Amino acid sequence: MKDPFLLHIFNPTKNVSPFDVNMAYEAEFDGVIPYSNVTLDEIHALTQDTIFSRGPTGVRRTGIFIGGREFGLAMEMLQRAKAAMVPPFEVSVFVDPSGAITTAAALVACVEAALKKVGHGDLSGKKVHIFGGTGPVGICAGILLDRCGAEAFIASHRGQHVADEVAREYNARFHTRVRGAASGSEEEVAEIVRNSDVLIGSARAGVRVVSHAQLEQARNLKVAADVNAVPPSGIQGVEADDLGRVLNFTPSKALGLGALAIGNVKYKVHYRMFEMMKESERPIYLGYEDAFAVAREYAGRKILGN
Ligand SMILES: NC(=O)c1ccc[n+]([C@@H]2O[C@H](COP(=O)([O-])OP(=O)(O)OC[C@H]3O[C@@H](n4cnc5c(N)ncnc54)[C@H](OP(=O)(O)O)[C@@H]3O)[C@@H](O)[C@H]2O)c1
Repeated sequence: MKDPFLLHIFNPTKNVSPFDVNMAYEAEFDGVIPYSNVTLDEIHALTQDTIFSRGPTGVRRTGIFIGGREFGLAMEMLQRAKAAMVPPFEVSVFVDPSGAITTAAALVACVEAALKKVGHGDLSGKKVHIFGGTGPVGICAGILLDRCGAEAFIASHRGQHVADEVAREYNARFHTRVRGAASGSEEEVAEIVRNSDVLIGSARAGVRVVSHAQLEQARNLKVAADVNAVPPSGIQGVEADDLGRVLNFTPSKALGLGALAIGNVKYKVHYRMFEMMKESERPIYLGYEDAFAVAREYAGRKILGN
């Protein structure tokens, strides 16, 4: 094939995600080439090997995707790749470790739209707790929520010190004010649920973090959003396809957002990022801000009918 669209996947872990490979072919890349166990120090050389072979026009049909499992490492890899470019030998790069960026972008955009839908305004000043907040989805959601002016808490079932440590690390890197919270015992979860405006279930797949009985005490709750698509749901009573359904059993009639509904927006964002790489006349670097901007459009359309 002459002049194919090629996507090189630089992956710091052993297995490149089949999800990412499928998505790249869906977006009609002609060739998707995985690289496993890539270290941060190898990014510079791999990037320069990518950019110099196809000439200044061929680079427009070449892209790099950075995957893996760690949000912080993937963002550092993006910076290393950017620093290795030698214009006009420069290609587009999209970073989405474990789908965390596109998932968090879809999640936060859906929460924002749901709040607006029922007249609660935007995220500014809202107290938002993220269960499983120390994972890649939770960390990215915390950063986006902070950027939107929310009071964001990442909760850890390993205790306050773990949550605080992760919050400290990412606040230093991303200039955010995310706080930690402990969610290791039923009492700690109940206390969070009673005092939160927004609850996010983002713990490991198949783990339930909030019960129906706890939600019945959620007097300030406006939105409960769950991204865990593997039964049982992370937040009991939120169904996978809920897209702003009223949770009648909650005292404040909060809205539910389920994993498949959020996943549908995530899928569109992921696909759009790949399209943007292919369409752009100049090299672009796609991270969480870009994913969030696109997610806001889709979430606004789906939830607010914009
Ligand atoms: N809907 C979608 O489109 C979509 C897309 C991607 C991912 N997801 C889902 O999003 C969620 C988050 O993904 P991720 O990759 O960030 O998850 P992850 O890294 O597997 O887990 C997130 C956090 O869950 C906590 N956790 C682990 N075991 C737990 C337990 N027994 N009880 C309570 N918490 C526990 C851990 O934090 P602590 O130990 O600090 O508590 C961990 O850091 C997952 O459910 C994933 O399947 C959904």
